Amino acid sequence: MTSTTVRAPAKINLGLSVGPLRDDGFHELATVYMALDLHDTVRVSLRDDDQVTVAVHADADGRAESTAVPLDADNLAVRAVEMLRSAAGVTTGVDLMIRKVIPVAGGMAGGSSDAAAALVGANAELGLGWSREALAELAADLGSDVPFLLHGGVGIGTGRGEQISPVLSRGRYAFLVVVASEGLSTPEVYAEFDRLEPDPAPPHVAPELMSALRGHDAERLGEHLTNDLEAAALSLRPELDRVLQIGVDAGALAGIVSGSGPTCVFLLEDDADAQQLTAELWSAPGCADVIHTHGPASGARIIA
Ligand code: C5P
Repeated sequence: MTSTTVRAPAKINLGLSVGPLRDDGFHELATVYMALDLHDTVRVSLRDDDQVTVAVHADADGRAESTAVPLDADNLAVRAVEMLRSAAGVTTGVDLMIRKVIPVAGGMAGGSSDAAAALVGANAELGLGWSREALAELAADLGSDVPFLLHGGVGIGTGRGEQISPVLSRGRYAFLVVVASEGLSTPEVYAEFDRLEPDPAPPHVAPELMSALRGHDAERLGEHLTNDLEAAALSLRPELDRVLQIGVDAGALAGIVSGSGPTCVFLLEDDADAQQLTAELWSAPGCADVIHTHGPASGARIIA
């Protein structure tokens, strides 16, 4: 039996500017995404019947929270395969096996990335030959950040985050990711944003952030990391303030809540800082894990 294995990267938002709530229930965004080396793995194989199934496996490096991933038609990777099959007019059954490493409900788009990887893997296994652009159109209907996860690297996201302009970025950056023991719901964080910020300005990307990326200047990048959802995440999870403080006091260039949280991400000067900082961050309240990783990384890619 053949299978296709696809790497599904996590993302962070180096800048996340949130504008007004639109009539469709989404917020207008201007965000700078970066894909990270931290990744799930999605294996796609065909079945003899017409079912689409998913199993989730967390091995030695996998996160325990994988038990929170839905295993039915609500799973975004299953929906991705269903959508692709129906658009392509095929009914062949598909098994998905997801090895979970990206924190679940952590603001790092793990579910969206699994869906992007499922699109890439099912496209190959079913022999459809769709282009990445064609897959990206389906991706936007699955979730606002799914198109970026197909793309990877660094990209500016506008609209509700689904319209991607690639950014050429030089060099790599080192990060520590602090995983919280309990996730946060993205819609609840946006609702809290609306409560705290009833009349937000139109969203924008800070030119200083882009120029720090162009110059591969980690220190300047650290000065210009922003997240408009951070106040809402801190309001729902006050202990995150302490997590951010511990990382910065221990020598990180900067710390921000990742997307809608509660994962916190710290930018490091270089890898030499990682060990000491990791030890200090383990003492942070609600910390379930500390992961040393790098970005940018490629989007959903076939690895076997
Ligand atoms: O697009 P996605 O399914 O990931 O969005 C999940 C939820 O996050 C939406 O239902 C909405 O509540 C919120 N959201 C938003 N504005 C965006 C993206 C997401 O309000 N641009």
